Amino acid sequence: MNTFSNPLVINLKNYNEISGDNSIKIVEDAKNVSLLNHKEIIIAPPPSSILTLSKIKVPIVSQHVDDASLGATTGFIIPEIVKSYGAIGSIINHSEHKIEHSQIRNLVRRLRDLNMISIVCADDLNEVEALSQFSPDFLAIEPPELIGKGIAVSKANPSIIKDSVQVVKENSSTVKVLCGAGIVDKTDVEKALELGAEGILISSGVVKSPSWYNKILELSSVLK
Ligand code: G3P
Repeated sequence: MNTFSNPLVINLKNYNEISGDNSIKIVEDAKNVSLLNHKEIIIAPPPSSILTLSKIKVPIVSQHVDDASLGATTGFIIPEIVKSYGAIGSIINHSEHKIEHSQIRNLVRRLRDLNMISIVCADDLNEVEALSQFSPDFLAIEPPELIGKGIAVSKANPSIIKDSVQVVKENSSTVKVLCGAGIVDKTDVEKALELGAEGILISSGVVKSPSWYNKILELSSVLK
């Protein structure tokens, strides 16, 4: 069951900055911020570190899951196993790891059956329209051309957030919209919320910041 309303979801990607023990440090920073301000902070680390990081007691989601079977399958990341490692959900269809829409539909159902949350990414309005019909917990609009560029989607392309919120509303009363790509400071977050987003999906703005703690505190403080 989704108990999150306005999360800051931090995707650690495969950045070198979070390799080895640094991944523990960033998750501990996130935990300390959430203990201070009680905001919803979720971390998406590389799947291989989920078991270790989930022990820090910060909500962890996988960066990706495959629609492969539990049992004799090799090299796939599957919902049942990431749940057993402590993940509470997964990102699906990130623009850096696209999958077929039929698989997205299956995975959203499979995660829900496991009481895990789904954060489905969409590159554009067409994908927002198609994927919101699968009723994920969160639909994250992330124009690929702005990812990692430090130019916030909420300022560079505000209409895509507004339009996504509208399209999602037409298709579902439960799906919440997250906004991501280029978010770097709290004014970007404030703008996204004004446009109707309910939370943020971010990566480089946190991972490449000189102080993870301060940046997570700054960004989460303006979320509800
Ligand atoms: O998953 C989050 C993401 O793709 C946005 O990346 O670096 O622009 O915050 P970034």
